[in-house]
Amino acid sequence: MAASASGRGQWGSQLGFVLAAAGSAIGLGNIWRFPYVTGQSGGGAFVLVYLCCVVFVALPVMLLEISLGRATQRNPVGALLAVRPGTRWRFLGYLALATGLGILSYYAVIAGKVAAYCASYARALTGGGGADYQGTAGSVVFYFAFFLVLTLAVVAGGVQRGIERWSKILMPLLLVTMLGIIARGLFLPGSLAGVQWFLTPDFSKIDGRVVLAAMAQAFFSLSLGMGAMLTYGSYLSKQQDILRCGAWVVFFDTLVAVLAGLMIFPAVFALGHDPAAGTTLTFQVLPAVFAGMPGGTAIGLLFFFLLGVAALTSTVSLLEVVTAYFVDERSWPRSRAVWAVSAATFVVGIPSAFDLAGHDPFSSLRLLGQQGFLGLMDFVWGNLSLAFGSLMLCLFGIFVWGLPRAAAEIASTSPFFARFSRVWIFFVRWLCPLAIAFILATLFGL
Ligand code: TRP
Repeated sequence: MAASASGRGQWGSQLGFVLAAAGSAIGLGNIWRFPYVTGQSGGGAFVLVYLCCVVFVALPVMLLEISLGRATQRNPVGALLAVRPGTRWRFLGYLALATGLGILSYYAVIAGKVAAYCASYARALTGGGGADYQGTAGSVVFYFAFFLVLTLAVVAGGVQRGIERWSKILMPLLLVTMLGIIARGLFLPGSLAGVQWFLTPDFSKIDGRVVLAAMAQAFFSLSLGMGAMLTYGSYLSKQQDILRCGAWVVFFDTLVAVLAGLMIFPAVFALGHDPAAGTTLTFQVLPAVFAGMPGGTAIGLLFFFLLGVAALTSTVSLLEVVTAYFVDERSWPRSRAVWAVSAATFVVGIPSAFDLAGHDPFSSLRLLGQQGFLGLMDFVWGNLSLAFGSLMLCLFGIFVWGLPRAAAEIASTSPFFARFSRVWIFFVRWLCPLAIAFILATLFGL
């Protein structure tokens, strides 16, 4: 990233943006959340609905988010105010900040668990017993705090410095490791049933709940609906091609999700696990695969390390958005903003950490029939709020910014897009908002 005339950073190249945005997108959402949601939603049919949501709903919204960032060169709140000074729509920016903090609070708990697995594989490798992690509440909270501190250290130093360079090496390595684990899984007897279950759609399984889960997963996995892509887009220069960047991010993110499915489900079927096991699925199945593998401890260590890095590039984007607001709009020093936001996140995340350790502090409430506090947080922030935020962003584009202006922003560097801008406008004006609104309405039983 190079400094621009405005004194704000800017990506050195298109690759810088694609790496950072793909780093934000690819994470636990692909490897932990996608398989467990697929498992609970019946397999192949869900995957098909998910792919449709990605292409027809999430990709158009992503182009809108990036273009608003590039056009205004601001954080989420600042971007809305730059389009119309003093606008009430800035509430949408505040909602984005709350959502960022809300997601980070439980995401870092799960990421902490990944770090804990890493540590126990490292111990097992150096001869200290088995590689399983029995998380007590104290240790889950410890690893949660540890992961927050890692995130904080990266964000305090400026996102671009280290993370761009790392992702270039470690992300491809993650892909290669996953391919190796997939190959191993396919040699397990009975694994083909898993491949078939994952790839063959059974249309009778598609209902409103499945469509909602698919759409929410698309927003979550692509980091949409809370201003992360907007903020990263704000560091794009006016020469860089939004359509091409967005398309690459979508491609990589979807590739990793599909590979994660191919990594988990053959093993689920071969080893006799329950695909609908929920949030614990990835964490139960993979260690079992590693345990039965020659060199499994080393491979487990490598895999959980790389997954931790992928999660870190995601938590960094969550913390960065909230930090950018306090730095840009409130003129806080970067370090104060980072520490204050992390401290608040830690407090909010403690119940999720206890829940993950098997001591849900609010178990007597069982709000909305969810599976404990962490599941509730994921539902409220990771599902509802992202869908609502994306819907509001479309409405902001339609009624305030003007979609022709947004389209012109994208078309200015993409002659290819220019030919299809009307199609895009149609999607963002009609299909995306109606689809999201319909799904939200179904959810509330309207
Ligand atoms: N997309 C990330 C993942 O799949 C999680 C994430 C990072 C995110 N930043 C976000 C989700 C912003 C929603 C909004 O793991």
